[in-house]
Amino acid sequence: MNVSEALDSRMSCRAFLPDPVPESTIREILTAASRAPSGGNLQPWFVDVLTGAPLAALVARIGLQVPEHPLGHPGEYPVYPSPLGEPYRTRRYTNGEQLYATIGLPRSDRPARLRQYARNYSGFGAPVMLFVSIDRGMGSAQWADLGMFMQSIMLLAREYGLHTCPQESWSAWHPEVGDAIALPADRMLFSGIALGFRDDTAPINRLRTERAPLEEIATFRGFG
Ligand SMILES: Cc1cc2nc3c(=O)[nH]c(=O)nc-3n(C[C@H](O)[C@H](O)[C@H](O)COP(=O)(O)O)c2cc1C
Repeated sequence: MNVSEALDSRMSCRAFLPDPVPESTIREILTAASRAPSGGNLQPWFVDVLTGAPLAALVARIGLQVPEHPLGHPGEYPVYPSPLGEPYRTRRYTNGEQLYATIGLPRSDRPARLRQYARNYSGFGAPVMLFVSIDRGMGSAQWADLGMFMQSIMLLAREYGLHTCPQESWSAWHPEVGDAIALPADRMLFSGIALGFRDDTAPINRLRTERAPLEEIATFRGFG
């Protein structure tokens, strides 16, 4: 698999098979991903890997609270700016509509949508969760570095036939995740990444998201 194929086949997988992923595979992926660039080579990323009993315990602990608090705790960082201006607001709305359309959930059925959203907190059934965190003292430049690390993990996963879902929704459960991974007080949870084998029969995995045309995001000058 070349880089283009990895990029093209990566998608946010929202239904996984229960098949386990060997620890050695995850170690190889994380070792390779740590070749990601970072300003000043700070390598400001930390990753905690959970599977088996500790993951099941975390999912169960959060699951008990979700019915009463479907959106979790107040976050430690804003997932989106507020207000979210255009064109981002429309992109986000479209994404939600297209996602829920794959499983036939209309906007009017908020309880069902919340139930689907709550599947975030089981990692959509993935056998492995990665939790990515960063020192609280780091700034936006280092948070960008985290993104490069995460994308490297997600592309490498494709080489092993694995799929992923980046999940900042776990940040709403930072106290519980923090307990589960013994997160030091000076570090902040950024995002989860669900990792495993895709359930190809799940309709929700049929979503192929849109991208803005190149003209909207790129400007070329001086090419004659
Ligand atoms: C940092 C980050 C966090 C995300 N968090 C979530 C999440 O909590 N739950 C979810 O279902 N998708 C999440 N996504 C997936 C995005 O919705 C998805 O990347 C986007 O719609 C593009 O679709 P694609 O990944 O399938 O190409 C996240 C993506 C990123 C990059």
